Amino acid sequence: MRKILIFTLMATLIACNAYRELPGARVDSSWKVKRLPASEQQEGGDPTAGLNYLIYGDYIGSGVPYDFFKKKMSNQPDTVLRREGDNANVGYSATVFAAPNGVKVVNGNCFTCHAGKLNGEVILGLGNSFSDYRKSLTPMAKMMRLGVGLKYKKEDEEWIAFEDFSNYFREMAPYIQTNQPGANPAFRLAEACMNHRNPADLTYREAPNYELMDYTIATDVPPLWNVKKKNALYYNGIGRGDFTKLLFQASVLGIPDSTAARQAINHFKDVVAWLKELEPPFYPGPVDEQLAARGETVFNEHCSGCHGAYGNEESYPNKLISLAVVKTDPLYANYAFNSGIVKWYNSSWFANTEPRAYFEPNLGYVAPPLDGIWASAPYLHNGSVPTIEALLDSSQRPTYWSRSGRSDDYNYQKLGWNYRTPEKPEGEWTFDTTVPGYSNKGHYFGDKLSDEERKAVIEYLKTL
Ligand code: HEC
Ligand code: HEC
Repeated sequence: MRKILIFTLMATLIACNAYRELPGARVDSSWKVKRLPASEQQEGGDPTAGLNYLIYGDYIGSGVPYDFFKKKMSNQPDTVLRREGDNANVGYSATVFAAPNGVKVVNGNCFTCHAGKLNGEVILGLGNSFSDYRKSLTPMAKMMRLGVGLKYKKEDEEWIAFEDFSNYFREMAPYIQTNQPGANPAFRLAEACMNHRNPADLTYREAPNYELMDYTIATDVPPLWNVKKKNALYYNGIGRGDFTKLLFQASVLGIPDSTAARQAINHFKDVVAWLKELEPPFYPGPVDEQLAARGETVFNEHCSGCHGAYGNEESYPNKLISLAVVKTDPLYANYAFNSGIVKWYNSSWFANTEPRAYFEPNLGYVAPPLDGIWASAPYLHNGSVPTIEALLDSSQRPTYWSRSGRSDDYNYQKLGWNYRTPEKPEGEWTFDTTVPGYSNKGHYFGDKLSDEERKAVIEYLKTL
């Protein structure tokens, strides 16, 4: 009897808290905080080899034949990574590598999304908040297939080295068009590609494995220097188990099969080692030490229970916070919770071969480490808040905010992008927080501080 009563009470609570504006945006009040447990990881990688693999490696598996690419694209020298050989002539976010049959191909690399520009400088590991997926990539996918198809025959090695990428590009293009500048649809990309892979051996199959929801959900891009503190990956902590396999997610865009995947992930042990050494950039301006010291006290009282402690006694609690507590936009967590990708992943090569990686979705978001947080605006998983100042005082969060799109237009006092607040969502780089999935609500933990305390906390955050 008591059990039934508790159950009914809980069900009512959950129902009452349901987010009513969108179907499926559920908030679960039956738990507040979950500890994310550590999983066994492979040790002993070589960090230098890891970076080398990220910028020269073959982890995307297939791509546009380099000979075709060279003739069609203008040369864009790599002034950022200063790479050698064929890679000296492609921008830092693309890589020339050999497909399994030896044909040289070109494709994007991790730094398409995981290198960000700040004050004119490209910072490896900083999320790229200037990507724009508002245009449909479907015409490009078609044109590319047509162009390569005209130049090479179906039995040519070049076509074979291109076909996997072309298949997945065609399948995912209709699903990654976003309605917000700067928002990154990586989750949808993975979902759309895995949808056409045989779970056992990762080969292409035309028939879809599951149904994709209609709405293209997208997020901000988290900085990679936090991975070393994390027990689970992604904003919602869904990524569990072995990191070498989780890091390899982007490869579903072109890797031909699990044999090629197995070879590539052997290198990801080195990539994990590189991530363990990756440090955030230092705050470049002056810091008021006394104010920062006061801020540390406030931080330790109000924030570190979720975000950890910094300085000499570093600690990070790895907490997943329920949507019912953090109250930020629930759509992304719900989307992943309901996606067909979870069942697919957990019955696939990723989860069924050693070392295992698996997905465990929850209706909550990870309270992330705040190292280098001064540099990684905009804030929250959906990038809906332009500055830390606005994050800590919800009355200051703009409904529409517009940035210039210039990487030097950063505010080193408010910690974030300078912005205007247009009356309507107009202009090239205008973020619209009224669009589903992008609301700037929640995380009200800074509201209870005084103005003076908030100032002090901001000063302290500059030092992390
Ligand atoms: C198309 C853009 C894109 C590409 C390419 C990409 N990523 Fe990501 N990555 C993202 C986005 C967006 C997220 C956040 C998704 C989430 O947390 O739900 C993410 C999350 C991650 C995370 C989790 C970080 C954390 O704090 O939880 C890691 C690690 C990562 N990516 C590594 C890589 C590596 C390594 C590559 C190349 C093999 C790569 N990514 C390629 C966009 C991309
Ligand atoms: C109850 C736990 C909790 C407390 C207390 C808390 N936070 Fe958070 N914080 C979170 C969670 C969860 C997120 C991620 C929310 C999301 O992305 O939707 C977050 C996000 C943030 C972010 C944005 C991170 C990013 O990369 O976008 C900052 C900055 C931050 N918190 C600072 C603070 C400060 C400063 C305090 C103290 C005044 C504080 N938080 C108190 C749980 C907490």
